[in-house]
Amino acid sequence: MRLFVNIDHVATVRQARRTDEPDPVRAAVLVELGGADGITVHLREDRRHISDRDVRVLAATLRTPLNFELATVPEIVDLAVEVAPHQATLVPEKRTEVTTEGGLALTDAAVRDRIAGCLDRLVAAGVRTSLFVDPVPAALDVSAELGADAVELHTGEYANARDASARRHELDRLVAAARHGRDLGLDVHAGHGLTYENVGPVAAVEEIEELNIGHSIVSRAVLVGMESAVRDMAAILRRARGG
Ligand code: PXP
Repeated sequence: MRLFVNIDHVATVRQARRTDEPDPVRAAVLVELGGADGITVHLREDRRHISDRDVRVLAATLRTPLNFELATVPEIVDLAVEVAPHQATLVPEKRTEVTTEGGLALTDAAVRDRIAGCLDRLVAAGVRTSLFVDPVPAALDVSAELGADAVELHTGEYANARDASARRHELDRLVAAARHGRDLGLDVHAGHGLTYENVGPVAAVEEIEELNIGHSIVSRAVLVGMESAVRDMAAILRRARGG
């Protein structure tokens, strides 16, 4: 199982002040030192967190593979072709959503055509391709038909399940989808809404080879780093008074 860490929300904190810290590129180095297998970023059309500069610098400096999440927006596909990351994951995107709300609408012919056009460009640039899909057989069938290398199963319904029986049901759907994906020859990834509390059963599914986890890890990093961050500032204040 490979862990890819999504560092979008390091950039969210930076953008809260439109300054240059915290820099997701610096965070990525620490994520790599922590043992992650790769780094994931989502360049949204509204650039609310990750910027074009972040993607360019990460692509040029990472030691681990970059998984670049993007919607089928021509100018962003241009950037993906330019930087040629290890992998591009196509995701649906709505301007008003707080975070990605569901998998690609692969049963819609217009969406499928747009995706096919993007996949052609990415493949020509030597980029591995993955499609973010809901854990339903039809989405996997279409992903295989389109020639994607991988699918990322949307784990949001699992993460948001209201009780143990609903969670069990969602886990069963993920397991069935993962098996179906493997049978079709797709590599199977998963992600969205996974936390330290709920990740165990998903991580145990053998057909899933890669997890993308962001918000929960960045949230914990803020808390586990708080004590030393405050100590550093307090020491500066003491020194300023000759202490
Ligand atoms: N996978 C995809 C396709 C996503 O869009 C996101 C969120 O950007 C993630 C995984 C990570 O989700 P989370 O931040 O909830 O861990």
